[in-house]
Amino acid sequence: MQTIVVTGGAGYIGSHTIIELLTKTNFKVVSIDNFSNSTEAAYKRIKEITGKDFDALNFDLCDEQQIHSQLSKIKDIIGIIHFAAFKSVPESMAHPLLYYQNNLTSLNNLLKFAQEQKIMNFIFSSSCSVYGNADELPVTENTALKTAESPYGHTKQIGEDIINFVCKADPAFNAVLLRYFNPVGAHLSGNIGEFPLNRPNNLVPIITQTAVGKNSLTVFGNDFDTRDGSCIRDYIHVSDIADAHVKALYYLIEKKNKKNVSVFNLGTGNGVSVLEAISSFEKVSDKKLNYTIGSRREGDVVAVYADNSLAKKELNWTPKYSLDEMMASAWKWQQTLEKEN
Ligand code: WQD
Repeated sequence: MQTIVVTGGAGYIGSHTIIELLTKTNFKVVSIDNFSNSTEAAYKRIKEITGKDFDALNFDLCDEQQIHSQLSKIKDIIGIIHFAAFKSVPESMAHPLLYYQNNLTSLNNLLKFAQEQKIMNFIFSSSCSVYGNADELPVTENTALKTAESPYGHTKQIGEDIINFVCKADPAFNAVLLRYFNPVGAHLSGNIGEFPLNRPNNLVPIITQTAVGKNSLTVFGNDFDTRDGSCIRDYIHVSDIADAHVKALYYLIEKKNKKNVSVFNLGTGNGVSVLEAISSFEKVSDKKLNYTIGSRREGDVVAVYADNSLAKKELNWTPKYSLDEMMASAWKWQQTLEKEN
């Protein structure tokens, strides 16, 4: 049975992508996760939501021996979707070497395995942070990449370069680089979502935790050169991101790719400010959010949002969820967590 390996499958985007793979394809799924930023509970939630089973391996992709001993016994792997990486902008500013070591060693090991085993379809979890403070907005896939504002974004730039050179050396190897904008929200069932093990750094989980009194929200600056002074991002529902991965997989398997490396922006195309995101949450939750205005956060870009026309055209993909629906799904998930604890 044709098998898809999903690294980081217990994580936020990985778990939502496994749900789409199990419900929309007939591929066998094998997840690899070392639970450094997730728990095995995600697997149970996936099985309950989909009613489907899948295999899971627990090891660190930085361990080349483990990749070989664990993966070489899996038959008929026709693609790898590589999510596993550390992903916090502020954490990468504080611990750059941790990010370079983890994110790049795991990628190198996995690419080496794929090449040795002739697994010729590779989807890479990249990020809008590769654009840095772009000179033009919205950014297209051809927008010149500026200096990354954080080691996190830099590991994604280097990761893309590594894959580009691997594909240049091996024309039979096919890769899709998916540049996520800001994934937010949770599966519509309300039974799985972002599950930060420690205090989250990203906006939407902090909003929902603040709404239940478990966190406090500081807006990192309202003196930027934007319509309301707060930073602009392109928030996109995690299930829209997951759907794009299934479409990117078929894009490669059905050999629709025109080049052996394809890059796509996964955003809605709508720039939303931090204050607008807060207002949307207040509207859908009918709760007034207490927050303070603080100083700017190092590593933040002022504004970034996508021109997503290439992904729409090539992958036949269209993001479905509105900002309000993203916030409503995040709020539903937070309420699930409150009931469970
Ligand atoms: C968003 C905005 C903050 C927290 C994310 C992911 C990263 C990558 C790129 C996918 C910024 C502001 C935040 C808070 C705030 N995604 N903010 N108070 O930094 O855009 O990066 O997208 O690959 O993995 O982290 O996301 O949610 O941290 O910040 O004011 O307590 O919200 O300043 O303007 P970011 P974020």
